[in-house]
Amino acid sequence: MKVGIVYTSVTGNTEETVNNIYSIAKKYTKDSSIFPVARFPLHELMTFDVIIIGTYTWGNGDIPLEMMSLYRAFEEYDTKEIITGVVGTGDQCYPRFCGAVDEFRDMLYVHSNLAATLKIELTPQLLDIERCQQFVKIIMERAKSKTRV
Ligand SMILES: Cc1cc2nc3c(=O)[nH]c(=O)nc-3n(C[C@H](O)[C@H](O)[C@H](O)COP(=O)(O)O)c2cc1C
Repeated sequence: MKVGIVYTSVTGNTEETVNNIYSIAKKYTKDSSIFPVARFPLHELMTFDVIIIGTYTWGNGDIPLEMMSLYRAFEEYDTKEIITGVVGTGDQCYPRFCGAVDEFRDMLYVHSNLAATLKIELTPQLLDIERCQQFVKIIMERAKSKTRV
């Protein structure tokens, strides 16, 4: 089961979150990798069984610009078979808390096999680590039931 975690982070909250998710994912499969979005080989997207997207939210509930090529790739390629999850960090002070997660969720629901979403307030706390474990578990169970690996 080939798992890719693709993320963007400016101040480190999302990076810390996806690093936790990566540690958890490694318990389920030997073939997992983590990429800052700028280093993700987009042309290899279709070779992944599972893609987990990690993003902060910008502007007024917006997806950061650097994530848009990944977003569009899901719209343009035949990605319906890829099992996906999207996790984000955001700030409850903004009216659209983790709006980028909602934007990705709506698109991935149509263009992939979306298994789970997760929103985290700024830096992940102890309780958030448990939520990350649950998030990864749901995604991996979906993947197992599909790939029987
Ligand atoms: C200019 C600006 C706009 C933001 N807009 C939102 C927003 O609309 N919704 C939200 O939930 N968080 C918003 N945030 C908060 C960030 O998403 C949050 O701090 C996030 O954890 C940053 O992730 P990072 O540490 O991985 O870069 C905004 C932050 C800044 C600086």
